[in-house]
Amino acid sequence: VSLDGRWLRVNRSLCEITGYDQESLLSRTVRDLTNPDDVDNDKELARAIRAGELRSYHVEKRYRHAAGHEIFVLVSVSLVQDEQGRPLHAIFQITDISERKRLETFKGQFINNAAHELRSPLTTIAGVTALLVDSRESMPQDQIEQSLAALARQSERARELINNLLDLSQLERGLKVSLQKVRLASFVSKTLEAVPAPEEKVLTSLVPEGISVLADPLRLEQVLVNLLSNAYRYGGSSVTVEAKQVEKSAIISVQDDGAGIPELFAPRMFEEFTRGPNVGKNTGSGLGLAIVRQLAAALGGEVWYEPRVPCGSSFKVRLQAI
Ligand SMILES: Nc1ncnc2c1ncn2[C@@H]1O[C@H](COP(=O)(O)OP(=O)(O)OP(=O)(O)O)[C@@H](O)[C@H]1O
Ligand SMILES: [Mg+2]
Repeated sequence: VSLDGRWLRVNRSLCEITGYDQESLLSRTVRDLTNPDDVDNDKELARAIRAGELRSYHVEKRYRHAAGHEIFVLVSVSLVQDEQGRPLHAIFQITDISERKRLETFKGQFINNAAHELRSPLTTIAGVTALLVDSRESMPQDQIEQSLAALARQSERARELINNLLDLSQLERGLKVSLQKVRLASFVSKTLEAVPAPEEKVLTSLVPEGISVLADPLRLEQVLVNLLSNAYRYGGSSVTVEAKQVEKSAIISVQDDGAGIPELFAPRMFEEFTRGPNVGKNTGSGLGLAIVRQLAAALGGEVWYEPRVPCGSSFKVRLQAI
């Protein structure tokens, strides 16, 4: 790079990072590529380099990709001088750090979301406890009972959230799964017994004998329980669990006859901390489907959503049949 900021020679990597071909880069300046908000970032450093006061520096910047989107780069600048020590030009070594930045942002948001989600049950717990401590003597018995029930409910909510967070963090670090042969018919009926349907719901299980999959039963149970709890909460009056073998795969589906996933929300349903506009009064933190997606991947399978005709949701999990 010349001392006035023109590209003098560029390699293929820089073309790949920025999306420009060599010719277009050579007719542009560093400034042309830099996000206007970041132009002034290293003005002082650049001046010091030109003046020969500084030999090198590193700076993180946003460049604009030829396609128009923003990319994050780490720029390491070092000065080349002639024999008398006069500055000739600078060498820029540019690394694309967009992926790292994306992860950092995601992590920051994740922690922020988790903290917010935890704060709401804890606020209630602290408030109700304080009320009980101060005035339980003057409180009517039914109000005391209501308060205790609220404490129980909110603690359970906080506990659930923490369990979900722990599951996610374990999954993120590459969960150890112990894959074994799982016979679906008996596995599904055992799971359904362990998490009975709410009274007003009709649960049907259509899992024929003879289908077995390669899975970790504990993890598969988590998948099923999460999908069932969603179907109970957001579905209609009947829920069906079905399994089919299609060539070398087994496809387990959890179906309901509710309103289905709102179309606009559908692309985001598997993201962490996202909840649809259809949640109504149901509490939850929007982690269930994110966990299901990661669990399915850890089991070597996948999960996806299909709307049902005329209405309802169908979540399908593909696993390896054996
Ligand atoms: N069977 C379903 N029918 C309609 N909408 C659903 C169904 N399952 C999930 N959703 C929508 O997808 C959203 C995300 O589901 P997810 O299980 O990730 O979170 P949650 O149930 O809101 O909270 P959590 O599972 O953490 O308690 C829900 O908030 C809901 O809007
Ligand atoms: Mg859920």
